Parts: sequence; structure tokens; C-alpha cells
Amino acid sequence: MADRLAIDAAAGQAIARSTAGQLPLNVLGLTWKAGGKRLIDVISLQLGDGGVTVIMGPNGAGKSLLIRLLHGLLEPETGEITWNGERAGDGTRAQQAMVFQKPVLLRRSVSANIDFVLKLKGGADPTYRDELLARAGLADKARQPARAMSGGEQQRLAMVRALASKPQVLFLDEPTASLDPASVHMIETMIADVRKEGVKVVLVTHDAGQARRLAHDVVFLHRGRVAEHTPAASFFDNPSSSPARDYLAGKIVL
Ligand SMILES: Nc1ncnc2c1ncn2[C@@H]1O[C@H](COP(=O)(O)OP(=O)(O)OP(=O)(O)O)[C@@H](O)[C@H]1O
Ligand SMILES: [Mg+2]
Repeated sequence: MADRLAIDAAAGQAIARSTAGQLPLNVLGLTWKAGGKRLIDVISLQLGDGGVTVIMGPNGAGKSLLIRLLHGLLEPETGEITWNGERAGDGTRAQQAMVFQKPVLLRRSVSANIDFVLKLKGGADPTYRDELLARAGLADKARQPARAMSGGEQQRLAMVRALASKPQVLFLDEPTASLDPASVHMIETMIADVRKEGVKVVLVTHDAGQARRLAHDVVFLHRGRVAEHTPAASFFDNPSSSPARDYLAGKIVL
């Protein structure tokens, strides 16, 4: 069967195994500590090629830590993360891009922020840069200082700048958290477009509507652990873990 997930209850936590051919991401026994506390507490995961994996879970569950670890921005305490067999680190990070909840932009113009990435990746390409700016609805702001733009405009720029590097994997940490509906729609359209191009997207969101619109599978984190990893269709209709059920019902999850 193309993409069936089977839950391995014997492992002590829900580990989803995709039966689809290639598995780009393998995480085994991942932990990360700070201040003597295990904030990522033995996570094992396998994510399939392409499609959007959504990571959900209450505030403080470890979602941002997990995607930073997956992107190689943090060193695991124990465990292993591999992308197509290569350990997460400088090599894998070069083929990936990340958009943070608070956009990180250079103190330069809007267009210079994209030119910077295009030059790093092989050369200036004003036509492609202008196409990206148009996709972000920023064609008329190309010469403005990036950091003088509104929060939503900065986030749309951060998104197209991430696309400019033509990543194989795109990490998005709550990219639409403080955006108006039009900006949310623009960013969701970009996500749907890159998914069609075969880019693997790992998206952290609290927006259940957004997760329903985009997710192929959902990883639900609770207290630094994977409470469940479920195909999106069954996650929303019938979550298998009680923290996910409570979260989706709007109850406080401690
Ligand atoms: N560098 C650090 N040192 C100590 N504690 C940290 C550090 N980074 C994160 N934490 C703690 O780890 C926990 C998980 O943090 P994380 O940012 O991953 O949560 P999150 O699931 O992304 O939450 P949110 O939905 O609020 O963004 C939190 O309790 C946070 O305070
Ligand atoms: Mg976070």
C-alpha cells in the first residue's frame, strides 16, 4: 500500500512507520537537555519523501526544539538524525531552508535579501528574484528596507527568500502565527506549490484549519515526546492519543 502508517505500540511511544519506498528522514532515540531537564525525551520518527508533515502540540511541547534539531541547528544529546542516510549537520542544512516564527532578515532592501541567497546558490537572477517578490505580493516594495516592512510583509519575504535557495526540505515554524487572512492564504499557496514540486515540508502550526488544508501526516508532540504520528485524515477525525484529543477539543493540555 502506497503510504500506510502503522503504529508500533511496543516501542513505548507511538512511532509511525511509512511503508512508502524511500524514507528521507530517520530519527532514532533523540534527546536534548537544558538546565538538567530532558526537553526532547527519546523521539524516534520516520518521515516519508515529499508532502507536508505537520507538527502540532501545546505550547512548550518541544516543537521548535525538534525542528531546530532536524535542521541541524542544535546538536542532539543522544540519538541520531539522518536525511537520506546523511547525518543532520552542515551538509544536510545546505539543502534545506527554515522560516522562523519571527522573521530573520538582513538589514538591506527587500530585493537585496533575495539577491543574497541567489548569489550564495550560484548567481544573481533578477528575473527569478522579481518573480519571487511578485509571489509574495512585494513587487512594489523591492527597494524598501526589509526591516521597515510590516510583520506580515517580512514573513512573506522570509518565505520567498527560503524558496530562493530551492531547498529539498523546508522547515516552517508557525509561519502564519500573526498574519492576516490574505497573508495566510499567500503563504499556504506557496506551501502547496512547493509540495507539488516535490519539496518535503515540515510545518509547525497551532492552526488546525491550516493543518487540515495542508497536512499529509501529523506528528503530535507532548512533553518532548511523540504522542502520536498519524495520517492527517485520521488524526483530525479520530486522534489516537488523549493529549491530541484534548488539544483538538480546545482543552488545556498539561
Ligand atoms: N535553550 C533552552 N534552554 C532551556 N530551556 C529551553 C531552551 N529552549 C527551549 N527550552 C524549553 O523547552 C521547552 C520546549 O520549547 P519549544 O520552544 O520547543 O516549545 P514549542 O513546542 O515550540 O512551544 P510554542 O508552541 O510555545 O512555540 C519549553 O519549556 C522551553 O522553555
Ligand atoms: Mg515554538
